[in-house]
Amino acid sequence: MTSTTSPTDLAPVPLVDLAAQHAEVAAEVAAGWDQVLARTAFVGGPQVAAFEAEFAAYLGVDHVLGVANGTDAIELALRALDIGPGDECLLPANTFIATAEAVVRAGATPVLVDCVEDTLLMDPAALSGAVTGRTRAVLPVHLYGQCAELEKIAPIAASVGAAVVEDAAQAQGARRNGRAAGTIGEIAATSFYPGKNLGAYGDAGAVMTNDAALAASVRLLREHGSPRKYEHTELGFNSRLDTLQAVVLSAKLRRLEGWNTDRRAAAARYDELLAEVDGVVRPVVADGNLPVWHLYVVRVPRRDEVLAALHAVGIGAGIHYPTPLHLTGAFEHLGLRKGSFPVAERTAGELLSLPLFPEITEQQQQRVVAALRGVSHP
Ligand SMILES: Cc1ncc(COP(=O)(O)O)c(C=O)c1O
Repeated sequence: MTSTTSPTDLAPVPLVDLAAQHAEVAAEVAAGWDQVLARTAFVGGPQVAAFEAEFAAYLGVDHVLGVANGTDAIELALRALDIGPGDECLLPANTFIATAEAVVRAGATPVLVDCVEDTLLMDPAALSGAVTGRTRAVLPVHLYGQCAELEKIAPIAASVGAAVVEDAAQAQGARRNGRAAGTIGEIAATSFYPGKNLGAYGDAGAVMTNDAALAASVRLLREHGSPRKYEHTELGFNSRLDTLQAVVLSAKLRRLEGWNTDRRAAAARYDELLAEVDGVVRPVVADGNLPVWHLYVVRVPRRDEVLAALHAVGIGAGIHYPTPLHLTGAFEHLGLRKGSFPVAERTAGELLSLPLFPEITEQQQQRVVAALRGVSHP
């Protein structure tokens, strides 16, 4: 920090700021909600179908099925593929717990694989060594807003007859070699958790697929296994996209490209500002990717110390994620010790997510970088 700072220089910088986005869509959301409230039709209805169609057109995929949240979306995708007990599903050790949770909830067994050192995405070489005759699905996670290397992953999955189930929760609008995240595997899942690039005002999610049979299965499963009222052909769930959330998502979808462009500009500015800060490893974008920077994650030595110092001066940095899945209590039963996934384990202690949202200002970013420089070289 310099001695010539003004009060605005010292204003806190949050990790994510959803207020500006809300201001932009507030009138549209209010008008849409008034219509829903006037009709008192809170479940289903034209708003949900409209959002599904708009999101499908935006992504370039045949079917979007709105569901209650991203974790359900993954589970429903797996169940539509008829995956259950005895089946193995491969996923990265360095993801949010929901990816693995959904596998367990479907009754299948999660098998973890390590990530690539520079991009932190699923390592195709590690995947190749982990597939077996029991592998039924591979779940690449498009971590932090860039796609995993699907053209390397898909043939490995296909070699054992497994499906690719994309976890696109962090990658709405991201592209790989021109194709949208969530449209490349057999089926995909996303989350509209409020902080996501396309975020609802509560929990929401969706399943995407070009396969009509899988879409039909998810449609049935999300609605109590019911093709028609009080007719239940199988045991399903109550996992529907809330009508009020569909209104929010349609309003925000119209702005998503612009917001993602702003995120890319902010990421480019961090790249530039951080080039002069020793000891900070900047994020790497894999060839062929157009990222959407859900998170801008650097790596630093003495991370916990750096994080505490940033918090002390009002910078809302975070960690995504502090503990690889096999070292969490929830997955202790897998019996995987420390050392099982060296890249995921080493990098977990270095990761630092810097504040990033479409409306972040140059001044805010300069403040983040100045604070980081101060703690890197006290
Ligand atoms: C990679 C990943 N997968 C799955 C999920 C689960 O989504 P949700 O919180 O909507 O259940 C999230 C987000 O929280 C996520 O970041």
